[in-house]
Amino acid sequence: MDASGLARLVRANQPCVVLTGAGISTESGIPDFRSPTGIWAEFDPADYASLAAFRADPAKVWRFYKPRIAMLTEAEPNAAHLALAILEQAGLVEAVVTQNVDLLHERAGSRNLVEVHRSIRTATCPACGSSYPRDVVVARLEHADAPPCDNCDAILKPDVVFFGELLPAAAIERAFELARRARLLLVVGSSLEVHPVAALPEETLLAGGRLAIVDKGPTPYDRRAELKLEGNAAEILGAVADELV
Ligand code: APR
Repeated sequence: MDASGLARLVRANQPCVVLTGAGISTESGIPDFRSPTGIWAEFDPADYASLAAFRADPAKVWRFYKPRIAMLTEAEPNAAHLALAILEQAGLVEAVVTQNVDLLHERAGSRNLVEVHRSIRTATCPACGSSYPRDVVVARLEHADAPPCDNCDAILKPDVVFFGELLPAAAIERAFELARRARLLLVVGSSLEVHPVAALPEETLLAGGRLAIVDKGPTPYDRRAELKLEGNAAEILGAVADELV
């Protein structure tokens, strides 16, 4: 089966919920994490993307995050993001649950969106709780390697979920509820390695739903998926949207 087979599965198994990971944004120029050329091949997440690392040396974490926020801000949604927004507007995708913090689904037009790892939309002062929108943070980063808080001079923390940090409770509860109700969970561009999100396919299967996966690499659920397409998310989802809408 190819994109046509996936299109048939989406049409025949409603509601369809989509779970996305970093692989959906690589065609927007944003590297993923666990591919051989991914970010974690160069940086140790414990040193740059954990709450402990931020608390120990926030300036070091911002040396990693400063270029990353600039890259995410300059990236544009690709055909995969746009296809999911079109399928949602056509009533064929109920919601998108994303692990990505790049805001590309929102910018592509997805509305029923669950950001389980939060996003770069804001940064917050860990000392006094003041919140700053992304464009203010990006402007600050032009003159500083780590953005200070206006009120108490502490270094702001990006509002993305770091390793060792709790996920937003409402978002993860909504994600599990969507997975339970989905007749089809379509996973796009995720290695399904990071919990609790990696347990969402199990939730769908246990509730009698079906699984489809679009991912260039292997995932632990490949053998339990109705369909696994190992190709480019932008190409495949673009073809599915062309076929269905
Ligand atoms: N089309 C389809 N699949 C792709 C593409 C593409 N164009 N590009 C990459 N992939 C696949 C890779 O082969 C890989 O299997 O996408 C998957 C991305 O997996 P990860 O890099 O592990 O990303 P993700 O699953 O989103 O990671 C989950 O881990 O580091 C944390 O917080 C971070 O949200 C992230 C979480």
